[in-house]
Amino acid sequence: MTVKKVKKAVIPAAGLGTRFLPATKAMPKEMLPIVDKPTIQYIIEEAVASGIEDILIVTGKGKRAIEDHFDSVPELEQTLIEKGKSEFLALVEETTNINIHFIRQSKPMGLGHAVLQAKAFVGDEPFVVMLGDDIVQAEVPCTRQLIEEYYKTERSIIGVQPVSREVTHRYGIVDLKESIAGGLHKVESFVEKPAPGTEPSNLAIMGRYLFTPQIFKFLETQKAGTGGEIQLTDAITRLNEMQNVFVYEFDGKRYDVGEKLGFIQTTLEFALNREDLREDVLKMMTQLIEEQTTVKITI
Ligand code: G1P
Repeated sequence: MTVKKVKKAVIPAAGLGTRFLPATKAMPKEMLPIVDKPTIQYIIEEAVASGIEDILIVTGKGKRAIEDHFDSVPELEQTLIEKGKSEFLALVEETTNINIHFIRQSKPMGLGHAVLQAKAFVGDEPFVVMLGDDIVQAEVPCTRQLIEEYYKTERSIIGVQPVSREVTHRYGIVDLKESIAGGLHKVESFVEKPAPGTEPSNLAIMGRYLFTPQIFKFLETQKAGTGGEIQLTDAITRLNEMQNVFVYEFDGKRYDVGEKLGFIQTTLEFALNREDLREDVLKMMTQLIEEQTTVKITI
């Protein structure tokens, strides 16, 4: 039997965004911009660059702005045409040529429950799950790397990277069994947000997953875990008992935009990587640092 092509992606975007209140009271956290692009657009671009053809975004209450963002805006487009602003027109239009579907998660019952909403969309195919809090910059897109590993193993692959021991309690952490080759490992189990000092390793799940459709069998019967939520990590551990799940240490720099400091760092780094902004941002940062560190002597 030939291996099935990975064509579908699921992006859970139903979270309440409490870490960014009050900004996220009326606006979805996925629409917060890094420089001038909503965070969710970076994720969609990674999916498209990885060869994904259909994307399902799992939304919830108060998330209409995401749907609007990926829709066309005829009045705006007409005005930009009339004013000859073709570079802006291209920016507005580039979000409408992608095959995006939406479904609502009626209650915020956790990441596992959000992914379960994708069951009918996925059918009997392998698929990827991409979390919007993690943006990865890599030569080969992170999701593409997982897809390549899937074609070799035909098993679920979870993207991981090492983190410092002080922050393992913020992640799903891997209990390793056996290293296979080139960053690919077999797994004993996964632990969601282990208490400090109890973590089985420092390898953390980084918001990129590739699943065989068998994951739904376990999501359907998954009981609430850490934080009283239906955890995707717990369902992966149970899937691993039936069918090997691998973890893959992907190449690339991962940015945590789901947390304030990570968000600020990402904004600064992305601005510094832009030719049109780099020089001015550097000047501004140098000036700010001088202002903040100069001891003012008043006589
Ligand atoms: C989620 C997952 C966790 C993973 C993390 C990656 O947690 O539950 O396993 O390590 O994303 O960013 P969250 O950050 O949504 O609490």
